[in-house]
Amino acid sequence: MEDRMVSQEAQYDEESVESSLRPQTLAQYIGQRQVKENLHVFIEAAKMREESLDHVLLDGPPGLGKTTLATIISNEMGVNIRTTSGPAIERPGDLAAVLTALEPGDVFFIDEIHRLPRSVEEVLYPAMEDFCLDIVIGTGPSARSVRLDLPPFTLVGATTRAGLLSAPLRDRFGVLSHLDYYSHEELQEIVERTSEVMDVEIDEYASAEISRRSRGTPRIANRLLRRVRDFAQVQADGNVNEKVAVEALERLQVDPLGLDHIDHKLLKSVVEKFRGGPVGLETIAATIGEEADTIEDVYEPYLLQIGFLQRTPRGRVATAKVYEHLQMEVPEK
Ligand SMILES: Nc1ncnc2c1ncn2[C@@H]1O[C@H](COP(=O)(O)OP(=O)(O)OP(=O)(O)O)[C@@H](O)[C@H]1O
Ligand SMILES: [Mg+2]
Repeated sequence: MEDRMVSQEAQYDEESVESSLRPQTLAQYIGQRQVKENLHVFIEAAKMREESLDHVLLDGPPGLGKTTLATIISNEMGVNIRTTSGPAIERPGDLAAVLTALEPGDVFFIDEIHRLPRSVEEVLYPAMEDFCLDIVIGTGPSARSVRLDLPPFTLVGATTRAGLLSAPLRDRFGVLSHLDYYSHEELQEIVERTSEVMDVEIDEYASAEISRRSRGTPRIANRLLRRVRDFAQVQADGNVNEKVAVEALERLQVDPLGLDHIDHKLLKSVVEKFRGGPVGLETIAATIGEEADTIEDVYEPYLLQIGFLQRTPRGRVATAKVYEHLQMEVPEK
């Protein structure tokens, strides 16, 4: 019986938990003050003019709230949201199918927009600019191009890698919003809000501890909270206090700065195998058995942000902070 319960818990769909925790309005969305204030103005102005909102590009590291914001934009505009992702739209026809089914003003959300195939991107340009589609019907000599009018819509694109977006695509967004890592205080507010939604009793020391160890990222804060709650339930009285939180976070191998075992593996490899660098990303990836893309998208941005790694033309370099944190001697060069 125990085992069955554990496996059901393990299968619990991460995505469905996440969507239940998502704030639904701009007012509920914590932090990112400037992005939020600007969006508020653009949304109100579009509503006053009874126009669709201009296209919005959201960029920033994983788990900072891009998908959440896209949903909020559609809620605030009072329109539907249609969601897809760059790699899912393989051919121009796939794009045409979605665009022609939109209702006026709808939000069309493309996640991972930097992974849109080039042929699809080219069809997207006139759709964004003039709300029309030029599609080719048939092949060979009988092929002809037809122009379809589209309802006005708002494209919301999300990307963790704004640098990979082509310039013509980027230029067609009227609103460019960059999301940054959250402060400890903002994360603490998020942890407290999530606790309320999940009906968990947590004290302020525990929520502060979880926030400090969440790498500036709401998704991680919510995930750590859920795991800490598990420990509180099984090993304490269900209430989350500082002692329970610290013990649980240690069991989860999340260190006081929020670095986990993969961060440690990465940093130790740079320090021990490459004398602190410079070492290329691909080499690090091969050494620790992770994908270079995952390191670049998920792990490295935070290590750069807290000044543990530096990017140089010759590769990644570990800073003195790493040696201090790992309590290791800086090698002689
Ligand atoms: N500003 C915020 N206030 C409260 N909760 C937030 C906020 N931003 C994100 N979250 C929570 O963090 C989780 C992750 O957010 P979201 O899925 O929007 O991130 P994302 O940027 O789309 O990530 P990815 O790049 O991996 O797609 C969500 O469950 C959401 O509830
Ligand atoms: Mg997302």
